[in-house]
Amino acid sequence: MIKVENIHKSFGFKRVLCGVNLEVYDSETLVIVGSSGMGKSVLLKTIVGLVKPDTGSVLIEDINITKCSSSDLHLARKRVGYVFQEAALFDSLSIFENVAFGLRTLTSLKEDEIKQRVRRCLEMVCLNNVESLRPSELSGGMKKRVGIARAIAYKPRYILYDEPTAGLDPVMSDIINELIMYLKKHLKVTSIIVTHDMKSAYKIADRIMMLHEGKMIFDGRPEETRQTKNEYVRQFVEGSTRGPIVADKNF
Ligand SMILES: Nc1ncnc2c1ncn2[C@@H]1O[C@H](COP(=O)(O)OP(=O)(O)OP(=O)(O)O)[C@@H](O)[C@H]1O
Ligand SMILES: [Mg+2]
Repeated sequence: MIKVENIHKSFGFKRVLCGVNLEVYDSETLVIVGSSGMGKSVLLKTIVGLVKPDTGSVLIEDINITKCSSSDLHLARKRVGYVFQEAALFDSLSIFENVAFGLRTLTSLKEDEIKQRVRRCLEMVCLNNVESLRPSELSGGMKKRVGIARAIAYKPRYILYDEPTAGLDPVMSDIINELIMYLKKHLKVTSIIVTHDMKSAYKIADRIMMLHEGKMIFDGRPEETRQTKNEYVRQFVEGSTRGPIVADKNF
């Protein structure tokens, strides 16, 4: 289980997270939605320990990563895979070495096992013959998929995905949705997924939460999300506005 308790995070005077709580249960797929700039990526980075909260705690099972020893942090990192919003590959390393990175730093697999695992993970995201290339030689969507392969490679119990289908075509998006569902069904992986893609959200989510102005304002099953009377949630999931934000006569 991952448990986030009363997280606050500001950057200078900007308050981004103002008392966020969430729990994700074993084998559950939790989708987090919210408008751009609301702090979804900051929240995921806080859960993996890349951003230090001002107050509050993040429990990865029995380890509170906001105040633990570096050896416990290493242990917690082994349990959690993270797909960055912007892929965040190592530009100077080949695709093979990018995907192998976690296998080398977090496992004691032998070289031939690493080779097999990397190939298998790249196949799972439909990438062939890219192992020797550099990230700069790939398209945005291909880099995104390498980021997913890298996160699943060391078989973490929890995977956090920041916009896994952004920039992918509809068919490839669905392949990624199916992969997330496969990992849950066969490896009992627990996932937290940030997305703007409501079609994906309804397909993969056990539960949907909405982050708005630093707080979670909604927590419900997909059917409850469709039927909600909460105005912010309804506007978001329906993609509707009340009209143009700027009505400039001189435009
Ligand atoms: N390292 C940082 N330093 C200063 N401000 C930051 C930093 N990281 C994030 N922010 C600010 O925190 C706010 C939330 O950013 P975040 O990237 O979490 O938004 P988001 O909900 O993921 O948006 P999007 O849907 O566009 O990805 C933004 O106002 C952003 O400018
Ligand atoms: Mg983001």
